[in-house]
This record gives sequence, C-alpha cells and structure tokens, in this order.
Amino acid sequence: MSEHLPDLPQDEPLIYMKDIRRQFGTIVALDGVDFKVWGGKVIGLLGDNGAGKSTLIKVLMGVYTPTSGQIYWEGQPVRINSPQEAQNLGIEAVYQDLALIPLMSIARNFYLGREPVRRQIGPIKILDQEAMERQAEEALLEIGIHIRSPKHPVGSLSGGERQSVAIGRAVYFGKRVLILDEPTSALSIGETRKVLNYTTAAAERGMGVIFITHNIFHVFEVADIFTVIYHGRKVGDFPKEMVDQETVAEMIMTGQVPRRLEKYAADGASIIDD
Ligand SMILES: Nc1ncnc2c1ncn2[C@@H]1O[C@H](COP(=O)(O)OP(=O)(O)OP(=O)(O)O)[C@@H](O)[C@H]1O
Ligand SMILES: [Mg+2]
Repeated sequence: MSEHLPDLPQDEPLIYMKDIRRQFGTIVALDGVDFKVWGGKVIGLLGDNGAGKSTLIKVLMGVYTPTSGQIYWEGQPVRINSPQEAQNLGIEAVYQDLALIPLMSIARNFYLGREPVRRQIGPIKILDQEAMERQAEEALLEIGIHIRSPKHPVGSLSGGERQSVAIGRAVYFGKRVLILDEPTSALSIGETRKVLNYTTAAAERGMGVIFITHNIFHVFEVADIFTVIYHGRKVGDFPKEMVDQETVAEMIMTGQVPRRLEKYAADGASIIDD
C-alpha cells in the first residue's frame, strides 16, 4: 500500500546533515538528526520551544560544531567552521532582528559589503551611488518587492519590508540556500503574507529555503516538506500533500507519527495507530 504514497524528492539534496548530535554539557540538544534541503523546495523546520531547531541551524551556519555527524554539500562532505564559511558556500540566514543598518539607505543595505566601486583613490573607494540605487530597485522589483525609494533609510521600512529586502538581496546575489528563523513571529498578517510570497519566489528561483517556526499556520501554505523535530530527535519528513495542519501540530506537540504516515517517519520515531 505504502508504495502508492508520494516520495520525497529523489534528486541530490543541496544540503544533507547526517546523524547530527550536539550536546551542551549533559543536555542533548540534537540526537542523531538527519536533515535535507533541496534546491527549489521550501522545507518547514518545525518543533516546539527547545526542540532543537535553532541549534540545528547554528550547526549548519558554523556557529556550533556538531558533537558528531557529517554535513554534505551537493553530496560532498564539508566542514563548516564559521558563518563566513557557510556564506562562502552560498548559505544566507535571515533572522528576525537581521543585519540591516537602520540609518543607511535601502540601496546601501542591499549591497552591504559588496558595493560596486566606481573609482578607487588610494585606500578610498568611491561608491557608485546611482548604480546601486537603480540595481537595488530593479532587483527587488524582480521578485515583486516595491519600495518607495532606494534612497530611503532602512529604518523607515516596516519589519516585513526589511525581511523582504534581506530575502531579495539573497536571491539577487545568487545564494543557494536561504534560512529564515522565525521570520514572521513579530509581523502582522498582511506583512506575514508578503514575506511568505517572497519565500515562495526565492524557491521558484531554485533556492533551497529553510523556514523555521513553531507556528505551523505561518508556514503551511508555502512549505513543500515539513521536517518535524521533537526533544532533539527527528520525527520525520512529511510531504505537504500527505498532511493537514492539525496532523502536523499534533506531531510537533507529541512527537508521535500516525501509522498512515509511517513511510515518512524517522528511524526510531514512535508510531501510533490512527
Ligand atoms: N548554548 C547553549 N547552552 C546550553 N544549552 C543550550 C544552548 N543552546 C541551546 N540549548 C538547549 O538546547 C535545546 C534546544 O534549543 P534550541 O534553541 O535549539 O531550540 P528551538 O527549537 O530553537 O526553540 P525555540 O522555538 O524556543 O527557538 C534546549 O533545551 C536549549 O535549552
Ligand atoms: Mg529557536
């Protein structure tokens, strides 16, 4: 019977975190977690408070070294020892209070650290202000983000608009993987909708997107696959077409997988009759 159920993507994942364990003293934050991210897919990484979501992402970002386990990038084993190394691979993280500078213009923020230089006089770089403004505006428009003016300071944008600029920047600079850690937790419904739209747009351009939340309702529409973790252990990877919001919420809270979804359960996950 189970052979008729949809499969997870069969192509090589961009990222494969295999059997990841991370301890903090006696606390086991992650216990043998497998996690895959495919290009063009939005993965909803879900779990209750303290489940281990942020720890998993910090291992991926090179903030924490795993106690054991291996990360593969396009099938090749890699060590990621710092956020800079993660960025060099093409991984970009957008946090709730993200690294935009409120007093600088949208255009400057868009290019932060990668400004096009018009001319260099000794150590002084003359930035090509006009080019930056034009390109930032065009790049944002391309994924559907309308800004009033690229000259405006980022501080004049709402929380959702700032998230959007950060997402637009990751797309424009050809990043491969986008990590959104609770991007919508402080946003209104309308703002949340926009951020979700840009999330989809990033995946449509081939990026692998990791959307972390403990609010299933925020991610349900945009995720292709739900990866659930519970007390540091993987519960399973569930294709969107196989689950509804209640089922996912239940798995987040109990860590138990209904038998009809057994095919998608992680090794050792607890299965219950439904
Ligand atoms: N630096 C640390 N030192 C000690 N314990 C930690 C550390 N970071 C995380 N933990 C513990 O590891 C477990 C997982 O925490 P983590 O922050 O990954 O959870 P989370 O799923 O992101 O939760 P939330 O939804 O609240 O953000 C928790 O028990 C937490 O207390
Ligand atoms: Mg967290």
